[in-house]
Amino acid sequence: MSSGVRIDWTGRDRATVPRSGPRWRVLEAFGPRRTAPWFCRADNLPAMAGLLGDWAGRVDLVYLDPPFGTGRTFPKAGGGPAYRDRFAGGIAGLLSMLEPRLRLVAELLAPTGSLYVHLDAIAVHPVKLLLDEIFGPACFQREIVWRIGWISGFKSAQRNWVRNHDTILFYTKDPRRFTFNKIYVPHRPGYRRRGGGRTNARGVPAGDVWNAGPEDLALSGSASLDSIQIKSLSREKTGFATQKNESLLERIVRASSNEGDLVLDPFCGSGTTLAVAARLGRRAIGIDDASAAADVVRRRLAADPSCGLVVAAAGETPAFGEDRPRVRAAGVGSSTVRLSVTAARRAAGEGPVPARWTGIAAGVRDRRGVFVARAAAFRPLPDGPLDGRLGPLAVPIRDGRGAIEVRVYERDGAVSARTLRFERRDGVLRRLRDR
Ligand SMILES: C[S@@+](CC[C@H](N)C(=O)[O-])C[C@H]1O[C@@H](n2cnc3c(N)ncnc32)[C@H](O)[C@@H]1O
Repeated sequence: MSSGVRIDWTGRDRATVPRSGPRWRVLEAFGPRRTAPWFCRADNLPAMAGLLGDWAGRVDLVYLDPPFGTGRTFPKAGGGPAYRDRFAGGIAGLLSMLEPRLRLVAELLAPTGSLYVHLDAIAVHPVKLLLDEIFGPACFQREIVWRIGWISGFKSAQRNWVRNHDTILFYTKDPRRFTFNKIYVPHRPGYRRRGGGRTNARGVPAGDVWNAGPEDLALSGSASLDSIQIKSLSREKTGFATQKNESLLERIVRASSNEGDLVLDPFCGSGTTLAVAARLGRRAIGIDDASAAADVVRRRLAADPSCGLVVAAAGETPAFGEDRPRVRAAGVGSSTVRLSVTAARRAAGEGPVPARWTGIAAGVRDRRGVFVARAAAFRPLPDGPLDGRLGPLAVPIRDGRGAIEVRVYERDGAVSARTLRFERRDGVLRRLRDR
């Protein structure tokens, strides 16, 4: 049912929703492949259209944290822009970008599925009208106000009310039948009911204003709902400027999905949704078109052996970079090998591992040509040292010969590779010369 209100903006008539898109292909797998979240570096419009064939009506939860059209350029750790939050035509441009994507989200959502759209105080008003039009106003469930936390610096000095919240709009595909696990926040320490009666052991049911009431404010450490940007000592920090805190996503994922459900984040940035969904036993798909996002997601998830990552492409397979990393096969055994990029560079008179490299992985190609990592080292986030040594790792031998592929990942998303070939003779592995 329509609300009788229709939003219009300059350029609206031009929006088209693709009915199909490029098929997704798996390129790389790190860690436990069956449960690892998927990441695809692509524009999410064709990428989501490419999911329609297999996943229409099967996604249980979508969290969507788009650029709000703030006009800002967000920097990435190590320098340069992570992404530009700018649309020609301002809010009209933002709406033109969002409309076809939200229509695809509506098609991907399962009949009991939920959508959370994270916005600021300016974008929320027009986007709410657009969502009402796409989903129907009855499918609007709640407007969640997320208090970001304490504010300091120039934001607090402004001659105005201090801006201190984002808004998250919660919609469901069906107005009545949807997955919802009620969230209870533990009572704050020392809490007693008025009159001394027994308290509800589960705590207080969470409302639609987050990080403002006494129970939420009593949450501490990684459970605190304060924005990651103001948690200066948090180990969660990735250096991605608009990263959201895992505690925020955890509340959403727990409430609106169950174990084994599929969660999609089409603007996944640093991969917060993917990390949380994987930890909570959900399957997850993230899409982002920024190289900084691809770099951070790989370093955040592929580096975590309990999580892992599947990297996919929608459309063209990205070409390898020109750089063919030197690798020394040190400590060759009868079936295993230790690899060192550092030693190879030293032997060639080159300096230490370049600052632009953020990870090194070694692995094998499976029957479908997917690179399956057997060992990997990443620069810890936001920016730690990169160890150029890997292994020991097993070399799969067939007819006396085997190969290991070594990949180097760069901050700008470039991937370069070198294949090391081995021969086993008299029970000993020998490295063969590069072809
Ligand atoms: C606000 S950030 C998301 C941050 C994320 N929630 C996190 O926790 O890190 C928005 C992201 O949308 C991405 N983005 C913008 N337009 C896109 C598009 N058309 N397709 C895919 N990603 C896009 C940007 O690169 C940016 O990483």
